[in-house]
Amino acid sequence: MKSILDNRPELARQVANVAEVAGYLWQKGWAERNGGNITINVTEFVDDEIKGMEPISDIMQIGTTLPHLKGCYFFCKGTNKRMRDLARWPMENGSVIRINDDCASYVIIADNPVKPTSELASHLSMHNYLIGSGSTYKAAVHTHPIDLVAMTHNPAFLKKDVLTKLLWSMIPETRAFCPRGLGIIPYALPSSVELAEATVKELAEYDVVMWEKHGVCAVGENVMEAFDMIDTLSKSAQIYLTAKSMGFEPDGMSEALMEELKVAFNLPK
Ligand code: 13P
Ligand code: ZN
Repeated sequence: MKSILDNRPELARQVANVAEVAGYLWQKGWAERNGGNITINVTEFVDDEIKGMEPISDIMQIGTTLPHLKGCYFFCKGTNKRMRDLARWPMENGSVIRINDDCASYVIIADNPVKPTSELASHLSMHNYLIGSGSTYKAAVHTHPIDLVAMTHNPAFLKKDVLTKLLWSMIPETRAFCPRGLGIIPYALPSSVELAEATVKELAEYDVVMWEKHGVCAVGENVMEAFDMIDTLSKSAQIYLTAKSMGFEPDGMSEALMEELKVAFNLPK
């Protein structure tokens, strides 16, 4: 079967990276059934032939208007599709969409009419925010890490930056490689525009946000970097939980040691 990826090695590479990360999410145990979703902005890989491709779906509404996305293209996981299937067959479990000129609707253009993720409003709102703020980030990943989600069931961890400081203090890597910390978004209905709007507000301050009692959302230069930040935070959560299960409260690195890292690595916060 003909694919939009044929003779487009750059675009094919981007989709292969999504598939690779989808496999990691499944292996990590973060992607039960259809849990989680990934989108990437592929507009820079779109040529005139793609621009001329006829829609293979009806016009579908995003649910919100996103002015910076006019004419943009995204590869999106399909709703109800499994990460473990996206890993093996990305073009059967995801699709490429084009945002229409009204910035409020889209069409699917390739390869199959796979309806995008139910969290599309959140994903596209994040991409819209990123473009609007001049960011070069192209990827958004949402997943359900067991350890991090469990921590959101404790109200004490939901206060601003409590979890960020705790996770940063577990290992130097987390302070260095997730330098903007973890934002907290109070529970909101999955797939709602309310959740999308709350997510975007937090992105001004954080690259990774926690959807209370649901999952995390990360943005990054590419899908690997977005995954790495979640993975690093999850490693810290594992260290905390392992110490607790051994019967003690972990010491954590002191504020002074974390400040030393901030200076040494020239970190933003
Ligand atoms: P989708 O299958 O629609 O992507 O939904 C999965 C999910 O994690 C919703 O929050
Ligand atoms: Zn989810």
